[in-house]
Amino acid sequence: MLNIRNIQWVGGAGSEAAGCLRLLDQTKLPGEQVYIDCHDVATVWDAIKRLVVRGAPAIGVAAAYGCVVAVQEARGGASEAREVLQKACDYLASSRPTAVNLFWALDRMKRVEPCTAEALLAEAKRIHEEDAAMCRKIGEHGLELIRRLHPKPETRIPTPGISILTHCNAGALATGGIGTATAPMYLAHEQGLPLRVFADETRPLLQGARLTAFELAAAGVDVTLICDDMAAQVMREGRIDMVITGADRIAANGDTANKIGTYNLAVLAKHHGIPFYIAAPSSTFDLSIADGSAIPIEQRDGREITDSYGSGGAKAQPGIPGVKTYNPAFDVTPHELIAAIVTEKGIIEPVNSQTVRRLLA
Ligand code: MRU
Repeated sequence: MLNIRNIQWVGGAGSEAAGCLRLLDQTKLPGEQVYIDCHDVATVWDAIKRLVVRGAPAIGVAAAYGCVVAVQEARGGASEAREVLQKACDYLASSRPTAVNLFWALDRMKRVEPCTAEALLAEAKRIHEEDAAMCRKIGEHGLELIRRLHPKPETRIPTPGISILTHCNAGALATGGIGTATAPMYLAHEQGLPLRVFADETRPLLQGARLTAFELAAAGVDVTLICDDMAAQVMREGRIDMVITGADRIAANGDTANKIGTYNLAVLAKHHGIPFYIAAPSSTFDLSIADGSAIPIEQRDGREITDSYGSGGAKAQPGIPGVKTYNPAFDVTPHELIAAIVTEKGIIEPVNSQTVRRLLA
């Protein structure tokens, strides 16, 4: 496993023993390992917005610690602390709109009694630890799906093991634990099952190239990087046995928002007869919305397309004058294209309103 911590709380809490939130700056990976210490809520907001910390569960965990950062600065009594917390929650909630884990974590923080920095820190740590435990459980359930594919279909290229395609980074860097989509991969690797992972680079911000390929390689997992537009060809060649991605928000009927390009993969997988799976904790479900049409899709600055970071420090490519950009950060995969959703509570299969409700209610 990757031996670096993406999110940690340093020190105590409260005005006497004020601590801070330390975040690994994921915009600098894989080239540099730089940490940002957040001593005020504006720094936490900025870190979430700029993808210093990213991935739905990790955003939720960081926001929970962000509440502690805000309240430990509050002077005065309990009612002032409650007011500061409410303001901090509203502010943090405006950082990114799609990943529901952000709002889920803030709702939990708002319910903490008494409203002290110490009690809030205890709850933030619980959210962090629970996320790690959920990742592990997702890994155990996801492993069943990998084992199910032995022996692999004859139409696939014979490799010593199962070959999985993933998109973006739903790994350790995106969560408080061993990731969601990557959790079955880590467990399979730990248990010596032969496994090969294809990682989509994931334009425009290259989370697949900079983060997934980086963390899987660091763990010794056999990983091959491809450009997003190669997925169809790689599938047609019979190199992919299953696709697993993470999720940012799952509606009550199983429609799933995840990183832009996920929907493409689900369509391609259907065409090629390859099972397409989502791996996500229950904190990523939003049962208040019936289907994916109500999921807010984050629109990001077009300069991410024209001036992409590049992997390993590629030079910025400035845009062409007069050319517009359109940069939705997520897309929604309809539940009909999803063979199963792997959660910490078990596997939802087939995916529809009834099966989602049965597992989560
Ligand atoms: O924009 P990002 O990097 O936050 O997008 C991340 C994803 O889309 C992940 O696949 C998703 O959050 C699941 S993380 C376990």
